[in-house]
Amino acid sequence: MQTEKTIEWIKTGDLKGVSRMIDQTLIPYEYKKIDIKTTNEMYDAIKTMIVRGAPAIGIAGAHGVVLAAIESLDKDNFKEEVIKKANYINSSRPTAVNLSWAIKKQLEIIENSKENNEKTVELLIENAIKLENEDIEINKKIGEFGSAIVPKGATILTHCNAGALATVGHGTALGVVRSAFEKDSTIKVFADETRPRQQGARLTTYELTRDGIDTTLITDGMGAYFMKKGMIDVVITGADRIALNGDSANKIGTYMVAIAAKYHNIPFYIAAPKSTIDPNIKTGDEIVIELRDRSEVVEINGKPICTPKVNVINPGFDVTPASLITGIITEYGIFKPEELYKIFE
Ligand code: MRU
Repeated sequence: MQTEKTIEWIKTGDLKGVSRMIDQTLIPYEYKKIDIKTTNEMYDAIKTMIVRGAPAIGIAGAHGVVLAAIESLDKDNFKEEVIKKANYINSSRPTAVNLSWAIKKQLEIIENSKENNEKTVELLIENAIKLENEDIEINKKIGEFGSAIVPKGATILTHCNAGALATVGHGTALGVVRSAFEKDSTIKVFADETRPRQQGARLTTYELTRDGIDTTLITDGMGAYFMKKGMIDVVITGADRIALNGDSANKIGTYMVAIAAKYHNIPFYIAAPKSTIDPNIKTGDEIVIELRDRSEVVEINGKPICTPKVNVINPGFDVTPASLITGIITEYGIFKPEELYKIFE
């Protein structure tokens, strides 16, 4: 089990510090941590998916604001400078709401601080570390609630990586798997490979096999086949942004899995923290879907797999409508999509 934080603020004295993170682009070939020291580096780390997964990029955003504040310490217009840099980091990836959620939490500290700039930086660091620790606690609660819906000996299908790597620790969908596995070591996981970035193949199978969980890798088109054969008992995925009506954006391909699950009467659950629910949007139609570079589709490991003349469209996410979702597992319990709004009451 991964005991280290995927991403954490490391204090280096003299008000300096770095955001230390596992470089997820290298897994499974190499397990290496890198230190992010500037807001420009943070923007690139999020954009190039060195750090990825909604809760993890939320923490990256919180760290980014600390870096922005350190860079702006000597500026007369300290607050404005930090806000400008924070907005830049926020523009790195549009779909996961956790990024803007965590940046907003940090900017509230700047807005409300009556302290000098140095002391304000300390407050930002304290808050970033608090958010890191809370993320792990929240995921453990999600795991605990979610383990109740995993039948004994079940095979769980998951899509993308909603594991420890996508969070600070434990994971959301894989947090449910981990918590269920602690109670019943006979559960199994089928992991979709998750084209084009292969988060399922590269990250999910890495995490789960390391924990000794029985894991089978399948390609994205195989799910319905195994559902029809009666080999999948429940589907659990993470989410990047959930609308108030329960419509949930997650990695491209999730919608297709949810349709197949509905057809085969297999329960489909989303596991996500409250910070992934966007109270400002009523339905999934309002979710901005990130469009990524064509190279992710036409190349594998930097080598072309097709003619360069072909057109490509590469949306990073899709929206699964609430009608296909059995329940949303949060740190406050499991909600039916139509009751999700109650989490804000
Ligand atoms: O593009 P990614 O790898 O950041 O997409 C990640 C996902 O879609 C995850 O399922 C989601 O962020 C939930 S992570 C707990």
